[in-house]
Amino acid sequence: MTDSEETLANLSREERCFEPPADLAADANVKADAYDAAKADREGFWATQADRLDWATKWDQVLDWSNPPFAKWFVGGTLNASYNCVDRHVEAGRGDKVAIHWVGEPVTDGVADTRDITYAELKDEVSRAANALTALGIEAGDRVAIYMPMIPEAIIAMLACARIGAPHTVVFGGFSADALASRIEDCGAMVVITADGGYRRGTASPLKSAVDEARTKTDRVETVLVVRRTGQEVAWDDSVDVWWHDAVDTASTEHAPQAFDAEHPLYVMYTSGTTGKPKGILHTTGGYLTGSAYTHNAVFDLKPDDVYWCTADIGWVTGHSYIVYGPLANGVTQVVYEGTPDAPERGRWWHIIQDYKVTLFYTAPTAIRSFMKQGREIPDKFDLSSLRILGSVGESINPEAYIWYRTVIGGSGVDGRETPVVDTWWQTETGSVMISPLPGVTAGKPGSAMTAIPGIDADVVDDDGHSVPNGYGGYLVITSPWPSMLRTIWGDDDRYAETYWSRFRKEGFYFAGDGAKKDDDGDIWLLGRVDDVMNVSGHRLSTTEIESALVSHPKVAESAVVGANDPDTGQAVVAYVILREEFEAAAAADNAGIIKELSDHVRKEIGPIAKPRQIMIVPELPKTRSGKIMRRLLRDVAEGRTVGDTQTLADSSIMDLISAGQTTSTDD
Ligand code: PRX
Repeated sequence: MTDSEETLANLSREERCFEPPADLAADANVKADAYDAAKADREGFWATQADRLDWATKWDQVLDWSNPPFAKWFVGGTLNASYNCVDRHVEAGRGDKVAIHWVGEPVTDGVADTRDITYAELKDEVSRAANALTALGIEAGDRVAIYMPMIPEAIIAMLACARIGAPHTVVFGGFSADALASRIEDCGAMVVITADGGYRRGTASPLKSAVDEARTKTDRVETVLVVRRTGQEVAWDDSVDVWWHDAVDTASTEHAPQAFDAEHPLYVMYTSGTTGKPKGILHTTGGYLTGSAYTHNAVFDLKPDDVYWCTADIGWVTGHSYIVYGPLANGVTQVVYEGTPDAPERGRWWHIIQDYKVTLFYTAPTAIRSFMKQGREIPDKFDLSSLRILGSVGESINPEAYIWYRTVIGGSGVDGRETPVVDTWWQTETGSVMISPLPGVTAGKPGSAMTAIPGIDADVVDDDGHSVPNGYGGYLVITSPWPSMLRTIWGDDDRYAETYWSRFRKEGFYFAGDGAKKDDDGDIWLLGRVDDVMNVSGHRLSTTEIESALVSHPKVAESAVVGANDPDTGQAVVAYVILREEFEAAAAADNAGIIKELSDHVRKEIGPIAKPRQIMIVPELPKTRSGKIMRRLLRDVAEGRTVGDTQTLADSSIMDLISAGQTTSTDD
């Protein structure tokens, strides 16, 4: 049985199914009729969703799809994203509502470092930051890079950029100086907003120093705005560095937000593709905000008194759509946490849920699996009974993790409680959730993202673009445009058209790059990427990007990287490396040394997230006669299987050599 056949067979044995709780269903924000309403008049449905927002000028046309794949939504409409996320809630009399319960990682003498920020305070802070950015010379259309820990200023910075129409590009704080520099360079950011450092696992880890290093690799940056978070030493260059507390804290709280066109760029978010160069995914204002606000309301059945917590980092799209734009446009009260789940104690997350009586919780399967491993004794110590809906994102949630999440965290089955899990499928490119159960409508199956939400048309198709019958697998596609779709790849319209729209050009489908299966009921099960993209802990990494990083090391001649199944992280990076001849002998004498050197090199080039789980030094790579590396065979070795069919290899003895070679873990 091949891998995918085995997966399909496993899926077909999953027969558990959980009806929505009756009280939730009776009072749900979105009910079953929404599916039909959206089908009958898709654009009318989206126009209704756009009415959730405050528009300065109403649009004339819902969708202009006259020049596919370049969409325009809410044509002629103007609005300000920051006004929609902040000011309008204050104007509606909700200025005293807490927008953010911020929880810092350090706990001193049993007291956590916390800060509650109301909508009125958020409005003042965002206005100040907007004025400060303007004073630094930033104008609408200029790009601003944000490289920050999970502190309130990160969210304030994003909203301040949106307020003045300056697209932001948030770079995950775990990325290296090189990764930061290439993103700054690609989108031409003039300003970087950062912090001295942030707290991770009990230590103050530096950020500003990476910005300093990035500035040696790009000369785009004119100003670095620095928040003081940890108080650690930083190098200072008066000609570019400005303290946030000098520039922002002294600025006026009066700022009139200007309305921008619905298609004005809101942000660029870089994500890995099949080539080495990350893609700058462009999202614009009106459609994106409509999509994120609607889905956040529908999928989490958001009610005014909910306390919501999404554990993502703002450096990923989930942090953009489901910490900043969707939730704040909806006027939610949310928890934002700075640190790691186990600092200073293993039950830190559950402690926070108990303290703030969190009702809606959104996290990733990789986190759930790590908690499962630690055992239920830890969450069992806390009162988690406030939780009413649990979300999952980033990769398929395996049925065991789903059941554990539902019962151990959600308390389902105890005292008549039922806490649904919503497994949400989407991508950086889609901007908001596309496929997910609706908690008041769908009977959820553990492991399935179920069906496209109302307003979204998704399908699973074969190589020829034909819809597969129930019970069959194929490629996941989105068959009609949607408001929060990416508009292009920053500066590269051709790559945008080629990457997403050429595979099913004739049919006009968006190709997501994921394999999927429809079960006998037509519900969708995601099967992972069909291209050379890995999913490590719910984060996307490209094999080519890591290969390029390895090959940039002077001792490496060639490399091949594959994603191997991993019980903790979903997939893990496994690298096969051929050394340059002159280094072979030394490496043979100190295998552990060279492997550590290469591993550190990848960490430096991309960031700790890309660090290979294993690096194997090999004499050759398995290639077809046309020179294509056969990753399938390398995956067999990485996953400890018998190596599959080697007939198409130019030299079939190579796999014996590789299989017999050393397998060295890089864990340090
Ligand atoms: O392969 C799918 C997987 O993550 C990819 C998108 O990654 P990224 O753009 O980094 O966004 C992650 C957060 C939205 C998808 O192509 N993926 C995401 N959610 C799921 C998933 N795979 C299965 N089930 C999901 N719920």
